[in-house]
Amino acid sequence: MERDPHRRPTVLVIFGGHGDLTWRKLIPALFNLHLDKSLSQPFAVHAVDRVDTSTDLLREHLRDGVSQFSRRGPAADGDWGTFVAAVTYQKADFDDPAAYSELSEYLAQIDTQWNTKANRVFYLATPPSLFGVIARRLGEAGLSHEPECSHIVVEKPLGCDLESAQRLNRVLRDNFSEPQIFRIDHYLGKETVQNILAFRFANVLFEPIWNRRYVDHVTITVAEEVGVEHRGGYYDHAGALRDMVQNHLMQLLCLVTMEPPVSFEAEEIRNKKVDVLHAVRPIAHHDVHAFAARGQYAEGWAKGEHVCGYRQEEGVAPESTTETFAAVKLFVDNWRWQDVPFYLRTGKRLPRFVSEISIGFLAVPHQAFPVEAALDWQPARLIICIQPDQGIVLRFQAKQPGPQMYLRPVDMRFSYEDTFKIMSPDAYETLLWDAMRNDATLFMRADQVEAAWSLLTPILDVWASIPPSDFPNYASGTWGPEGAEVLIAQDGRTWLQPTAAHVAK
Ligand code: BG6
Repeated sequence: MERDPHRRPTVLVIFGGHGDLTWRKLIPALFNLHLDKSLSQPFAVHAVDRVDTSTDLLREHLRDGVSQFSRRGPAADGDWGTFVAAVTYQKADFDDPAAYSELSEYLAQIDTQWNTKANRVFYLATPPSLFGVIARRLGEAGLSHEPECSHIVVEKPLGCDLESAQRLNRVLRDNFSEPQIFRIDHYLGKETVQNILAFRFANVLFEPIWNRRYVDHVTITVAEEVGVEHRGGYYDHAGALRDMVQNHLMQLLCLVTMEPPVSFEAEEIRNKKVDVLHAVRPIAHHDVHAFAARGQYAEGWAKGEHVCGYRQEEGVAPESTTETFAAVKLFVDNWRWQDVPFYLRTGKRLPRFVSEISIGFLAVPHQAFPVEAALDWQPARLIICIQPDQGIVLRFQAKQPGPQMYLRPVDMRFSYEDTFKIMSPDAYETLLWDAMRNDATLFMRADQVEAAWSLLTPILDVWASIPPSDFPNYASGTWGPEGAEVLIAQDGRTWLQPTAAHVAK
Protein backbone atom coordinates (compact mmCIF):
# COMPACT_ATOMS: atom_id res chain seq x y z
CA MET A 1 0.00 0.00 0.00
CA GLU A 2 1.22 3.52 -0.84
CA ARG A 3 2.32 5.38 2.25
CA ASP A 4 1.77 8.89 1.01
CA PRO A 5 -1.99 9.20 0.52
CA HIS A 6 -1.47 12.06 -1.90
CA ARG A 7 0.31 9.77 -4.32
CA ARG A 8 -2.07 6.92 -3.80
CA PRO A 9 -3.88 6.00 -7.04
CA THR A 10 -7.41 7.30 -6.75
CA VAL A 11 -10.78 6.69 -8.37
CA LEU A 12 -13.29 9.47 -7.88
CA VAL A 13 -16.81 8.12 -8.32
CA ILE A 14 -19.22 11.01 -8.88
CA PHE A 15 -22.89 10.23 -8.29
CA GLY A 16 -24.68 12.90 -10.31
CA GLY A 17 -21.80 12.82 -12.76
CA HIS A 18 -23.93 14.42 -15.47
CA GLY A 19 -25.30 17.11 -13.17
CA ASP A 20 -24.78 20.80 -12.75
CA LEU A 21 -22.27 20.66 -9.86
CA THR A 22 -20.06 18.22 -11.76
CA TRP A 23 -20.26 20.32 -14.92
CA ARG A 24 -19.71 23.74 -13.37
CA LYS A 25 -17.42 22.99 -10.44
CA LEU A 26 -16.03 19.48 -10.03
CA ILE A 27 -14.65 18.79 -13.47
CA PRO A 28 -13.18 22.28 -13.95
CA ALA A 29 -11.53 21.87 -10.53
CA LEU A 30 -10.20 18.39 -11.35
CA PHE A 31 -8.95 19.58 -14.70
CA ASN A 32 -7.03 22.39 -13.00
CA LEU A 33 -5.55 19.88 -10.54
CA HIS A 34 -4.53 17.84 -13.56
CA LEU A 35 -2.84 20.88 -15.12
CA ASP A 36 -1.06 21.52 -11.81
CA LYS A 37 0.05 17.87 -11.75
CA SER A 38 -1.67 17.44 -8.40
CA LEU A 39 -3.73 14.36 -9.26
CA SER A 40 -2.48 10.94 -8.30
CA GLN A 41 -1.00 8.74 -10.97
CA PRO A 42 -2.95 6.85 -12.09
CA PHE A 43 -6.26 8.63 -11.54
CA ALA A 44 -9.80 8.02 -12.80
CA VAL A 45 -13.17 9.70 -12.67
CA HIS A 46 -16.18 7.41 -12.88
CA ALA A 47 -19.37 9.40 -13.45
CA VAL A 48 -22.60 7.69 -12.38
CA ASP A 49 -25.96 9.16 -13.32
CA ARG A 50 -29.48 8.37 -14.52
CA VAL A 51 -29.05 10.23 -17.79
CA ASP A 52 -29.07 8.28 -21.04
CA THR A 53 -25.71 9.23 -22.47
CA SER A 54 -22.38 7.70 -23.38
CA THR A 55 -18.85 8.22 -22.15
CA ASP A 56 -18.04 10.14 -25.36
CA LEU A 57 -21.04 12.45 -25.10
CA LEU A 58 -20.39 13.04 -21.42
CA ARG A 59 -16.77 13.95 -22.14
CA GLU A 60 -17.90 16.55 -24.70
CA HIS A 61 -20.41 17.98 -22.25
CA LEU A 62 -17.75 18.21 -19.54
CA ARG A 63 -15.35 20.01 -21.83
CA ASP A 64 -18.02 22.61 -22.45
CA GLY A 65 -18.25 23.11 -18.66
CA VAL A 66 -14.48 23.61 -18.45
CA SER A 67 -14.63 26.19 -21.26
CA GLN A 68 -17.29 28.14 -19.42
CA PHE A 69 -16.27 27.81 -15.80
CA SER A 70 -12.59 26.97 -15.41
CA ARG A 71 -10.51 29.82 -13.99
CA ARG A 72 -8.01 29.10 -16.75
CA GLY A 73 -10.57 29.23 -19.55
CA PRO A 74 -11.02 26.67 -22.34
CA ALA A 75 -8.89 23.55 -22.31
CA ALA A 76 -6.10 22.99 -24.83
CA ASP A 77 -6.64 19.80 -26.87
CA GLY A 78 -3.57 17.98 -25.58
CA ASP A 79 -4.19 18.68 -21.91
CA TRP A 80 -7.85 17.85 -22.20
CA GLY A 81 -7.10 14.63 -24.07
CA THR A 82 -4.83 13.28 -21.33
CA PHE A 83 -7.28 14.25 -18.61
CA VAL A 84 -10.51 13.04 -20.17
CA ALA A 85 -9.12 9.64 -21.11
CA ALA A 86 -9.54 8.85 -17.41
CA VAL A 87 -13.28 9.72 -17.38
CA THR A 88 -15.88 6.97 -17.81
CA TYR A 89 -19.66 6.90 -17.54
CA GLN A 90 -22.08 4.45 -15.94
CA LYS A 91 -25.82 4.87 -16.38
CA ALA A 92 -27.53 3.81 -13.17
CA ASP A 93 -30.61 4.05 -11.05
CA PHE A 94 -29.23 5.22 -7.69
CA ASP A 95 -31.51 2.89 -5.76
CA ASP A 96 -30.81 -0.24 -7.79
CA PRO A 97 -28.48 -2.80 -6.13
CA ALA A 98 -27.43 -3.97 -9.61
CA ALA A 99 -25.87 -0.55 -10.24
CA TYR A 100 -23.65 -1.04 -7.21
CA SER A 101 -22.63 -4.54 -8.32
CA GLU A 102 -21.58 -3.05 -11.64
CA LEU A 103 -19.69 -0.31 -9.78
CA SER A 104 -17.94 -2.92 -7.60
CA GLU A 105 -16.86 -4.80 -10.71
CA TYR A 106 -15.53 -1.63 -12.27
CA LEU A 107 -13.55 -0.81 -9.12
CA ALA A 108 -12.18 -4.33 -8.87
CA GLN A 109 -11.06 -4.14 -12.51
CA ILE A 110 -9.31 -0.85 -11.81
CA ASP A 111 -7.45 -2.46 -8.89
CA THR A 112 -6.35 -5.30 -11.14
CA GLN A 113 -5.36 -2.95 -13.93
CA TRP A 114 -3.40 -0.68 -11.59
CA ASN A 115 -2.07 -3.59 -9.61
CA THR A 116 -2.88 -1.89 -6.31
CA LYS A 117 -5.79 -1.18 -3.99
CA ALA A 118 -6.99 2.19 -5.24
CA ASN A 119 -8.25 4.93 -2.99
CA ARG A 120 -12.01 5.26 -3.62
CA VAL A 121 -13.76 8.57 -3.14
CA PHE A 122 -17.54 8.56 -3.57
CA TYR A 123 -18.75 12.11 -4.25
CA LEU A 124 -22.49 12.66 -3.88
CA ALA A 125 -23.25 15.45 -6.34
CA THR A 126 -26.94 14.56 -6.36
CA PRO A 127 -30.07 16.08 -4.88
CA PRO A 128 -29.90 15.66 -1.08
CA SER A 129 -32.90 13.34 -1.07
CA LEU A 130 -30.56 10.70 -2.56
CA PHE A 131 -27.72 10.99 -0.03
CA GLY A 132 -29.19 8.38 2.32
CA VAL A 133 -30.10 5.95 -0.45
CA ILE A 134 -26.65 6.05 -2.03
CA ALA A 135 -24.81 5.75 1.30
CA ARG A 136 -26.95 2.73 2.18
CA ARG A 137 -26.50 1.02 -1.18
CA LEU A 138 -22.73 1.60 -1.03
CA GLY A 139 -22.72 0.02 2.41
CA GLU A 140 -24.80 -2.97 1.29
CA ALA A 141 -22.46 -3.51 -1.67
CA GLY A 142 -19.51 -3.63 0.73
CA LEU A 143 -18.00 -0.52 -0.82
CA SER A 144 -17.72 1.34 2.47
CA HIS A 145 -16.11 -1.46 4.42
CA GLU A 146 -12.49 -0.51 4.01
CA PRO A 147 -12.09 2.74 5.98
CA GLU A 148 -8.51 3.19 4.80
CA CYS A 149 -9.41 3.45 1.16
CA SER A 150 -13.05 4.40 0.87
CA HIS A 151 -14.47 7.84 1.57
CA ILE A 152 -17.73 9.59 0.96
CA VAL A 153 -18.13 13.29 0.19
CA VAL A 154 -21.44 15.07 0.74
CA GLU A 155 -22.34 18.65 0.29
CA LYS A 156 -24.97 20.97 1.68
CA PRO A 157 -27.85 21.05 2.22
CA LEU A 158 -27.03 18.66 5.04
CA GLY A 159 -30.58 18.46 6.29
CA CYS A 160 -33.08 21.28 6.47
CA ASP A 161 -33.29 21.41 10.27
CA LEU A 162 -31.74 19.70 13.26
CA GLU A 163 -33.86 16.58 13.03
CA SER A 164 -33.24 15.94 9.34
CA ALA A 165 -29.51 16.63 9.79
CA GLN A 166 -29.39 14.07 12.59
CA ARG A 167 -31.24 11.59 10.39
CA LEU A 168 -28.77 12.10 7.57
CA ASN A 169 -25.80 11.77 9.90
CA ARG A 170 -27.24 8.52 11.22
CA VAL A 171 -27.59 7.03 7.75
CA LEU A 172 -24.10 8.12 6.80
CA ARG A 173 -22.63 6.70 9.99
CA ASP A 174 -24.54 3.43 9.68
CA ASN A 175 -22.54 2.82 6.55
CA PHE A 176 -19.32 4.81 6.90
CA SER A 177 -17.32 5.71 9.97
CA GLU A 178 -16.98 9.41 10.82
CA PRO A 179 -13.37 9.68 9.54
CA GLN A 180 -14.57 8.37 6.18
CA ILE A 181 -17.17 11.14 5.81
CA PHE A 182 -16.22 14.46 4.23
CA ARG A 183 -18.92 17.14 4.54
CA ILE A 184 -18.18 20.05 2.26
CA ASP A 185 -18.76 23.69 2.96
CA HIS A 186 -17.13 25.26 -0.06
CA TYR A 187 -16.39 28.48 1.87
CA LEU A 188 -13.73 26.57 3.79
CA GLY A 189 -11.89 25.95 0.53
CA LYS A 190 -11.56 29.64 -0.24
CA GLU A 191 -8.01 30.94 0.13
CA THR A 192 -9.02 33.99 2.13
CA VAL A 193 -11.09 31.90 4.51
CA GLN A 194 -8.15 29.60 5.18
CA ASN A 195 -5.96 32.64 5.57
CA ILE A 196 -7.98 33.67 8.63
CA LEU A 197 -6.17 30.88 10.48
CA ALA A 198 -2.77 31.91 9.14
CA PHE A 199 -3.42 35.55 9.97
CA ARG A 200 -4.56 34.81 13.48
CA PHE A 201 -2.21 32.03 14.48
CA ALA A 202 0.96 32.66 12.49
CA ASN A 203 1.35 36.23 13.77
CA VAL A 204 1.76 37.30 17.34
CA LEU A 205 0.56 40.79 16.51
CA PHE A 206 -3.19 40.51 16.61
CA GLU A 207 -3.87 37.66 18.98
CA PRO A 208 -3.36 39.77 22.15
CA ILE A 209 -6.12 42.16 21.06
CA TRP A 210 -8.41 39.51 19.59
CA ASN A 211 -10.83 39.53 22.48
CA ARG A 212 -13.48 41.43 24.40
CA ARG A 213 -10.97 43.84 25.93
CA TYR A 214 -10.23 45.39 22.51
CA VAL A 215 -12.98 44.29 20.15
CA ASP A 216 -16.26 46.19 20.25
CA HIS A 217 -18.17 44.12 17.71
CA VAL A 218 -17.75 42.05 14.57
CA THR A 219 -19.81 42.13 11.37
CA ILE A 220 -19.84 39.38 8.78
CA THR A 221 -21.40 40.26 5.43
CA VAL A 222 -21.86 37.83 2.58
CA ALA A 223 -23.64 39.79 -0.12
CA GLU A 224 -24.65 38.54 -3.53
CA GLU A 225 -25.68 40.63 -6.48
CA VAL A 226 -27.42 37.73 -8.21
CA GLY A 227 -30.95 36.59 -7.48
CA VAL A 228 -31.90 32.92 -7.18
CA GLU A 229 -30.95 32.35 -10.83
CA HIS A 230 -32.18 28.93 -12.02
CA ARG A 231 -32.46 27.49 -8.49
CA GLY A 232 -35.87 28.84 -7.47
CA GLY A 233 -37.28 25.35 -6.94
CA TYR A 234 -34.65 24.48 -4.34
CA TYR A 235 -34.27 27.92 -2.82
CA ASP A 236 -37.96 28.47 -2.17
CA HIS A 237 -37.85 25.57 0.31
CA ALA A 238 -34.60 26.74 1.86
CA GLY A 239 -34.22 30.50 2.23
CA ALA A 240 -31.17 32.53 3.23
CA LEU A 241 -30.91 31.25 6.80
CA ARG A 242 -30.64 27.61 5.72
CA ASP A 243 -28.82 28.24 2.47
CA MET A 244 -26.09 30.54 3.77
CA VAL A 245 -26.15 31.29 7.51
CA GLN A 246 -26.30 27.74 8.87
CA ASN A 247 -23.17 26.80 6.99
CA HIS A 248 -21.01 29.48 5.33
CA LEU A 249 -21.55 32.32 7.81
CA MET A 250 -21.32 30.05 10.85
CA GLN A 251 -18.04 28.68 9.52
CA LEU A 252 -16.68 32.19 9.19
CA LEU A 253 -17.82 32.95 12.71
CA CYS A 254 -16.01 29.86 13.99
CA LEU A 255 -12.74 30.78 12.29
CA VAL A 256 -12.81 34.31 13.65
CA THR A 257 -13.64 33.31 17.19
CA MET A 258 -12.03 29.90 17.80
CA GLU A 259 -9.24 29.43 20.32
CA PRO A 260 -5.70 28.81 19.03
CA PRO A 261 -5.31 25.16 18.05
CA VAL A 262 -2.54 23.12 19.60
CA SER A 263 -1.76 21.63 16.19
CA PHE A 264 -3.14 21.68 12.69
CA GLU A 265 -4.50 18.16 13.00
CA ALA A 266 -8.00 17.91 11.55
CA GLU A 267 -9.60 16.83 14.82
CA GLU A 268 -7.92 19.61 16.78
CA ILE A 269 -9.17 22.32 14.41
CA ARG A 270 -12.62 20.78 14.32
CA ASN A 271 -12.77 20.52 18.11
CA LYS A 272 -11.87 24.17 18.48
CA LYS A 273 -14.56 25.16 15.98
CA VAL A 274 -17.25 23.11 17.61
CA ASP A 275 -16.33 24.66 20.97
CA VAL A 276 -17.37 28.02 19.54
CA LEU A 277 -20.74 26.73 18.41
CA HIS A 278 -21.33 25.27 21.85
CA ALA A 279 -20.52 28.66 23.35
CA VAL A 280 -22.92 30.63 21.16
CA ARG A 281 -25.76 31.93 23.31
CA PRO A 282 -29.00 30.23 22.28
CA ILE A 283 -31.70 32.61 21.07
CA ALA A 284 -34.96 32.13 22.93
CA HIS A 285 -38.13 32.03 20.84
CA HIS A 286 -39.39 35.26 22.39
CA ASP A 287 -36.10 37.01 21.49
CA VAL A 288 -36.04 36.09 17.82
CA HIS A 289 -37.52 39.44 16.72
CA ALA A 290 -34.71 41.30 18.53
CA PHE A 291 -31.90 39.02 17.34
CA ALA A 292 -32.83 38.26 13.73
CA ALA A 293 -34.24 40.05 10.70
CA ARG A 294 -35.44 38.71 7.38
CA GLY A 295 -36.18 40.12 3.98
CA GLN A 296 -37.25 39.26 0.47
CA TYR A 297 -36.26 41.17 -2.64
CA ALA A 298 -38.71 43.08 -4.75
CA GLU A 299 -38.04 44.19 -8.31
CA GLY A 300 -35.30 46.73 -8.75
CA TRP A 301 -31.96 47.17 -10.45
CA ALA A 302 -28.86 45.02 -10.83
CA LYS A 303 -25.87 45.94 -12.99
CA GLY A 304 -27.89 48.71 -14.63
CA GLU A 305 -30.72 46.39 -15.64
CA HIS A 306 -34.21 46.17 -14.32
CA VAL A 307 -34.74 42.82 -12.58
CA CYS A 308 -37.85 41.05 -11.31
CA GLY A 309 -38.79 40.44 -7.69
CA TYR A 310 -38.19 37.10 -5.97
CA ARG A 311 -41.84 36.08 -6.27
CA GLN A 312 -41.65 36.45 -10.04
CA GLU A 313 -38.60 34.17 -10.34
CA GLU A 314 -38.99 30.79 -12.06
CA GLY A 315 -39.80 27.99 -9.61
CA VAL A 316 -40.86 30.37 -6.83
CA ALA A 317 -44.40 30.43 -5.42
CA PRO A 318 -46.17 33.73 -6.29
CA GLU A 319 -47.01 34.31 -2.61
CA SER A 320 -43.74 32.92 -1.28
CA THR A 321 -42.70 33.92 2.22
CA THR A 322 -39.16 32.56 1.84
CA GLU A 323 -36.47 34.98 2.95
CA THR A 324 -33.74 35.98 0.50
CA PHE A 325 -32.00 38.05 3.17
CA ALA A 326 -31.20 37.15 6.77
CA ALA A 327 -29.40 39.01 9.52
CA VAL A 328 -28.63 37.59 12.95
CA LYS A 329 -27.00 38.92 16.09
CA LEU A 330 -25.08 36.36 18.12
CA PHE A 331 -23.00 36.30 21.29
CA VAL A 332 -20.24 33.82 22.05
CA ASP A 333 -20.38 33.22 25.78
CA ASN A 334 -16.82 32.51 26.78
CA TRP A 335 -13.91 34.37 28.40
CA ARG A 336 -12.64 35.72 25.13
CA TRP A 337 -15.89 37.01 23.64
CA GLN A 338 -18.41 37.56 26.42
CA ASP A 339 -20.83 40.35 25.43
CA VAL A 340 -19.15 41.17 22.11
CA PRO A 341 -21.95 41.17 19.52
CA PHE A 342 -21.43 39.38 16.21
CA TYR A 343 -23.71 40.66 13.46
CA LEU A 344 -24.10 38.33 10.49
CA ARG A 345 -25.98 39.21 7.31
CA THR A 346 -26.41 37.70 3.88
CA GLY A 347 -28.74 38.33 1.01
CA LYS A 348 -29.38 38.05 -2.66
CA ARG A 349 -29.89 40.98 -5.04
CA LEU A 350 -27.81 43.31 -2.90
CA PRO A 351 -25.85 46.12 -4.58
CA ARG A 352 -22.54 44.28 -4.75
CA PHE A 353 -21.03 40.83 -4.73
CA VAL A 354 -18.85 41.09 -1.65
CA SER A 355 -17.98 39.00 1.40
CA GLU A 356 -16.11 40.50 4.28
CA ILE A 357 -15.58 40.30 7.97
CA SER A 358 -15.04 43.50 9.89
CA ILE A 359 -13.53 43.49 13.36
CA GLY A 360 -14.53 46.79 14.94
CA PHE A 361 -12.16 47.74 17.76
CA LEU A 362 -13.13 49.76 20.80
CA ALA A 363 -12.76 53.52 20.91
CA VAL A 364 -9.68 54.87 22.65
CA PRO A 365 -10.33 55.26 26.39
CA HIS A 366 -9.52 58.95 26.35
CA GLN A 367 -9.85 61.32 23.41
CA ALA A 368 -7.02 63.83 23.88
CA PHE A 369 -7.42 65.62 20.56
CA PRO A 370 -9.56 68.74 20.21
CA VAL A 371 -13.09 68.01 19.04
CA GLU A 372 -12.55 69.57 15.60
CA ALA A 373 -9.54 67.30 15.06
CA ALA A 374 -11.68 64.26 14.95
CA LEU A 375 -14.51 65.18 12.60
CA ASP A 376 -14.22 61.92 10.69
CA TRP A 377 -12.99 59.96 13.66
CA GLN A 378 -13.67 56.22 13.71
CA PRO A 379 -12.34 53.47 15.96
CA ALA A 380 -9.89 51.16 14.21
CA ARG A 381 -11.18 48.30 12.11
CA LEU A 382 -9.66 45.26 10.59
CA ILE A 383 -11.45 44.11 7.46
CA ILE A 384 -10.91 40.63 6.11
CA CYS A 385 -11.97 40.75 2.46
CA ILE A 386 -12.97 37.31 1.32
CA GLN A 387 -14.28 38.04 -2.17
CA PRO A 388 -14.16 39.27 -4.84
CA ASP A 389 -11.08 41.30 -3.84
CA GLN A 390 -9.05 39.09 -1.57
CA GLY A 391 -7.02 40.63 1.17
CA ILE A 392 -6.93 42.40 4.50
CA VAL A 393 -7.37 46.06 5.31
CA LEU A 394 -6.36 47.69 8.57
CA ARG A 395 -8.19 50.99 8.99
CA PHE A 396 -6.82 53.40 11.58
CA GLN A 397 -6.60 57.11 12.34
CA ALA A 398 -3.87 59.26 10.85
CA LYS A 399 -3.06 62.92 10.89
CA GLN A 400 -4.11 64.67 7.74
CA PRO A 401 -1.18 66.68 6.28
CA GLY A 402 -1.37 70.38 7.07
CA PRO A 403 -0.77 72.85 9.85
CA GLN A 404 -3.70 71.71 11.93
CA MET A 405 -4.27 68.45 13.74
CA TYR A 406 -7.04 66.86 11.71
CA LEU A 407 -7.55 63.13 11.97
CA ARG A 408 -9.04 60.87 9.38
CA PRO A 409 -9.17 57.13 8.80
CA VAL A 410 -6.63 55.62 6.42
CA ASP A 411 -6.23 52.10 5.12
CA MET A 412 -3.24 49.79 5.16
CA ARG A 413 -3.84 47.11 2.57
CA PHE A 414 -2.70 43.63 1.80
CA SER A 415 -3.92 42.28 -1.52
CA TYR A 416 -3.52 38.65 -2.48
CA GLU A 417 -3.37 39.47 -6.12
CA ASP A 418 -0.68 42.11 -5.83
CA THR A 419 1.40 40.14 -3.36
CA PHE A 420 1.35 36.67 -4.77
CA LYS A 421 0.74 37.43 -8.44
CA ILE A 422 -0.79 34.04 -8.97
CA MET A 423 -4.37 33.05 -9.50
CA SER A 424 -5.89 31.50 -6.38
CA PRO A 425 -7.22 27.99 -6.84
CA ASP A 426 -10.98 27.60 -6.81
CA ALA A 427 -12.39 26.32 -3.49
CA TYR A 428 -13.30 22.99 -5.08
CA GLU A 429 -9.72 22.40 -6.18
CA THR A 430 -8.58 22.68 -2.58
CA LEU A 431 -11.41 20.59 -1.20
CA LEU A 432 -11.20 17.81 -3.78
CA TRP A 433 -7.47 17.63 -3.31
CA ASP A 434 -7.88 17.39 0.46
CA ALA A 435 -10.64 14.78 0.26
CA MET A 436 -8.51 12.65 -2.04
CA ARG A 437 -5.58 12.98 0.39
CA ASN A 438 -7.86 12.05 3.26
CA ASP A 439 -7.29 15.36 5.06
CA ALA A 440 -10.50 16.36 6.86
CA THR A 441 -9.31 19.67 8.33
CA LEU A 442 -11.49 21.78 6.06
CA PHE A 443 -14.56 19.57 6.30
CA MET A 444 -17.42 19.64 8.76
CA ARG A 445 -17.89 17.01 11.38
CA ALA A 446 -21.36 15.73 12.28
CA ASP A 447 -21.45 17.47 15.65
CA GLN A 448 -20.58 20.79 14.06
CA VAL A 449 -23.40 20.57 11.54
CA GLU A 450 -25.85 19.63 14.26
CA ALA A 451 -24.68 22.37 16.62
CA ALA A 452 -25.17 24.98 13.89
CA TRP A 453 -28.67 23.69 13.18
CA SER A 454 -29.67 23.71 16.81
CA LEU A 455 -28.62 27.36 17.14
CA LEU A 456 -30.79 28.40 14.24
CA THR A 457 -33.78 26.24 15.11
CA PRO A 458 -35.60 28.88 17.23
CA ILE A 459 -35.33 31.38 14.37
CA LEU A 460 -36.56 28.83 11.85
CA ASP A 461 -39.46 27.93 14.16
CA VAL A 462 -40.54 31.49 14.78
CA TRP A 463 -40.21 32.54 11.15
CA ALA A 464 -42.22 29.52 10.05
CA SER A 465 -44.98 30.17 12.57
CA ILE A 466 -45.29 33.92 11.95
CA PRO A 467 -45.43 34.60 8.21
CA PRO A 468 -43.92 37.96 7.28
CA SER A 469 -46.57 40.56 6.54
CA ASP A 470 -44.28 42.93 4.67
CA PHE A 471 -42.63 40.75 2.00
CA PRO A 472 -41.16 41.78 -0.37
CA ASN A 473 -39.46 44.35 1.82
CA TYR A 474 -36.33 45.47 0.01
CA ALA A 475 -35.80 46.54 -3.55
CA SER A 476 -33.26 44.64 -5.63
CA GLY A 477 -30.03 46.58 -5.63
CA THR A 478 -30.34 47.85 -2.04
CA TRP A 479 -28.69 46.66 1.18
CA GLY A 480 -31.65 44.67 2.48
CA PRO A 481 -34.64 45.39 4.69
CA GLU A 482 -34.93 48.09 7.30
CA GLY A 483 -35.11 45.41 9.98
CA ALA A 484 -31.44 44.61 9.37
CA GLU A 485 -30.51 48.23 9.97
CA VAL A 486 -32.61 48.30 13.12
CA LEU A 487 -30.96 45.11 14.37
CA ILE A 488 -27.59 46.83 14.56
CA ALA A 489 -28.72 50.45 15.01
CA GLN A 490 -30.54 49.58 18.24
CA ASP A 491 -27.08 48.84 19.66
CA GLY A 492 -25.72 52.17 18.41
CA ARG A 493 -23.70 50.59 15.59
CA THR A 494 -23.87 50.36 11.81
CA TRP A 495 -22.99 47.79 9.19
CA LEU A 496 -19.74 48.51 7.46
CA GLN A 497 -21.01 49.41 4.00
CA PRO A 498 -18.58 47.93 1.48
CA THR A 499 -17.86 50.95 -0.67
CA ALA A 500 -15.29 50.43 -3.36
CA ALA A 501 -12.90 47.56 -3.77
CA HIS A 502 -11.17 47.74 -0.39
CA VAL A 503 -8.03 45.98 -1.36
CA ALA A 504 -7.77 47.05 -4.97
CA LYS A 505 -4.94 49.50 -5.56
C1 BG6 B 1 -24.16 28.30 -2.08
C2 BG6 B 1 -25.57 28.77 -1.96
O1 BG6 B 1 -23.84 27.42 -1.03
O2 BG6 B 1 -23.29 29.43 -2.02
C3 BG6 B 1 -25.90 29.76 -3.06
O3 BG6 B 1 -26.44 27.65 -2.07
C4 BG6 B 1 -24.90 30.89 -3.06
O4 BG6 B 1 -27.22 30.26 -2.91
C5 BG6 B 1 -23.48 30.35 -3.06
O5 BG6 B 1 -25.13 31.66 -4.23
C6 BG6 B 1 -22.49 31.47 -2.87
O6 BG6 B 1 -21.21 30.97 -3.04
P1 BG6 B 1 -20.02 31.92 -3.47
O7 BG6 B 1 -18.82 31.04 -3.47
O8 BG6 B 1 -20.39 32.44 -4.84
O9 BG6 B 1 -19.95 33.04 -2.49
